[in-house]
Amino acid sequence: MALLEFAALKKRYGPAGEVEVLRGVDLSVEQGEFVAIFGPSGSGKSTLLNVAAGLDTNYEGSAKLCGHELRAMTDRARTELRRTTVGLVFQMFHLVPDWTVEANVALPSLFGPLEKDTAERVRSALDRVGMKDYAKRRPTELSGGQRQRVAVARALFAAPPLMLCDEPTGALDNETGASVLAVFKRVHEETKSAFVVVTHDERVAKMAGRVITLGEGRVARDERKTEG
Ligand SMILES: Nc1ncnc2c1ncn2[C@@H]1O[C@H](COP(=O)(O)OP(=O)(O)O)[C@@H](O)[C@H]1O
Ligand SMILES: [Mg+2]
Repeated sequence: MALLEFAALKKRYGPAGEVEVLRGVDLSVEQGEFVAIFGPSGSGKSTLLNVAAGLDTNYEGSAKLCGHELRAMTDRARTELRRTTVGLVFQMFHLVPDWTVEANVALPSLFGPLEKDTAERVRSALDRVGMKDYAKRRPTELSGGQRQRVAVARALFAAPPLMLCDEPTGALDNETGASVLAVFKRVHEETKSAFVVVTHDERVAKMAGRVITLGEGRVARDERKTEG
């Protein structure tokens, strides 16, 4: 079963649905893939990730996460599916500034049953991104690259099979962006989580096993690299 499967996915905005942003996207993502998604600004990349994460269910066509049609689920079931299967990383980190790093990383635990091993999961996630010595700091005391690594640790908290990342290096300088991408590469190799990374960063195309370009509301190109 595909982790993510879109079939004839359409999305319109506006009171009368007059702005047709996605016009029939067919795309599936399998376990362990590393997919880069390119496309001009306004081509619907963030919209696509929002649908994939079950944050926007006002779509036509089909959007399945782990085999579940997202629109057809109850809010509660969809929230739980998201919490256990998807890690989200955004351009602007979206950390809670007044909370410690460890509290930020454990944030997903607030939306589900309390897990006994929260502290261990936090340590392990921070270790994966090279931030274990910063557990007691606050985001305001960290650089942009360190903040993004904490955001990646939060996304990894539930050990999700799918990471959805929206322009994760868009707010970082070149060198800092490279260090965040190195974390992605290592996490991908170690955890076998699938990554779907929306980006304008050509370095992501080099790392990815598959490069998709959105255009005219559809998948305009879908290139898979051959091994070796
Ligand atoms: N909530 C919204 N209401 C109306 N239009 C929107 C909304 N969100 C996005 N759009 C429009 O949909 C198009 C695609 O947006 P988006 O998915 O953010 O593109 P991208 O991430 O590729 O830049 C843009 O034209 C944008 O203005
Ligand atoms: Mg966007």
